[in-house]
Amino acid sequence: MHSFQTVGDIRIDAGGASRLDAYVSGLCAGKRIAIITDKGVRGLGLLDAGLESLRSAGYDVLVFDDVAADPPEVIVLAGAKAVTDFKADLIIGFGGGSPMDTAKVIAHLAGSPQPLASLYGVGLAAGPALPLLLIPTTSGTGSEVTNVAIITTGKTAKKGIVADSLYAKRVLLDANLTLGLPKSITASTGIDAMVHAIEAYTSIREKNPISDALALTALRKLRGAIVTACDEPGNVDARNDMLIGAMLAGQAFSNAPCAAVHALAYPLGGFFHVPHGLSNALVLTEVMKYNLPKAKDWYAEIAYDLGVGSTGIALIDAMEDIKARTAVPTRLSSVKITADAIPMMAEDAMTKDRLLMNNAREMTYDATVKIYEAIL
Ligand SMILES: NC(=O)c1ccc[n+]([C@@H]2O[C@H](COP(=O)([O-])OP(=O)(O)OC[C@H]3O[C@@H](n4cnc5c(N)ncnc54)[C@H](O)[C@@H]3O)[C@@H](O)[C@H]2O)c1
Ligand SMILES: [Fe+2]
Repeated sequence: MHSFQTVGDIRIDAGGASRLDAYVSGLCAGKRIAIITDKGVRGLGLLDAGLESLRSAGYDVLVFDDVAADPPEVIVLAGAKAVTDFKADLIIGFGGGSPMDTAKVIAHLAGSPQPLASLYGVGLAAGPALPLLLIPTTSGTGSEVTNVAIITTGKTAKKGIVADSLYAKRVLLDANLTLGLPKSITASTGIDAMVHAIEAYTSIREKNPISDALALTALRKLRGAIVTACDEPGNVDARNDMLIGAMLAGQAFSNAPCAAVHALAYPLGGFFHVPHGLSNALVLTEVMKYNLPKAKDWYAEIAYDLGVGSTGIALIDAMEDIKARTAVPTRLSSVKITADAIPMMAEDAMTKDRLLMNNAREMTYDATVKIYEAIL
């Protein structure tokens, strides 16, 4: 038996975010809208035209722009209070994965009395939630179409909320918003999206034919566009393909969840604040080499579909090639992580059961240590 869920209303429109009034139509029972974003996105002016269009159309808008990367609980709670006090009818998450994840949780906290602590885990967030419109400004996480929100709890630990009530009511993909993404962020978040597709395709528990089709199309789009998007930041076609590829990969892994690449990447973000996409890029190919004995047929199918060969190794080589051509850092030392941190990171990675249970090959503490050592 397979089942597949996704956002039911996805609109692709380069320039669309400047006409936000048109995109909230039908979602908002009243006239009060809360936009969740961060100061980086706000400072770039990406929201300005859309905000103006909402205000001109008579909407009352609250902008909560305090979201920080890898959103901490305190910020989520502060946002939920601001939104509840404002009595919002609709939440818009506008930004990368951090503002979108924060918006998902705020929509829940403002829509139902369930406390935040009770939402962590799989299927525990019941809703109802306020209606949610998500607009990504990075092309990597796919968070706009996933039923997942990742929150930083305490000092370092990240916890996931996974529930179908987290799906947005509508998504807008506007490639113009991503034209200013710096090369390093384009590269690492794009590789993160490729990891989502690879891990979905090789996810042993919930691999399904719909996620498979989405993952392959995502990888074709992302591989075809990532180097151009890095070298020609203003290329709207490449940016559009990156955004669509990341979204398709998000749909895939939302139904066939991620695995050991993500599990081993999380401690890099949790302990050392390495950005999520870069953490994944760092561990990706070593985890793939470890998984190869169990995943080689699936890797070979992806390689064949991409036209890069017909063996599992060919896919690993193709990913190495993308890392080199987009110049992402490849060593832990380049993000100032030293050998003495490896036991702590490996222990933390081993706690990510939610992810490790999907991995094609059983991941062990010793294997995790070896993978980190190989990229020191
Ligand atoms: N919910 C999910 O399914 C899911 C999946 C993967 C990752 N995540 C989470 O997403 C977060 C990472 O998201 P992210 O990689 O999109 O980054 P992010 O949202 O943390 O943003 C990183 C930086 O990029 C800046 N930025 C955003 N858009 C920009 C633009 N268009 N131009 C220039 N700068 C821009 C932001 O201001 C910020 O400083 C992590 O918390 C991760 O755990 C969630
Ligand atoms: Fe990811």
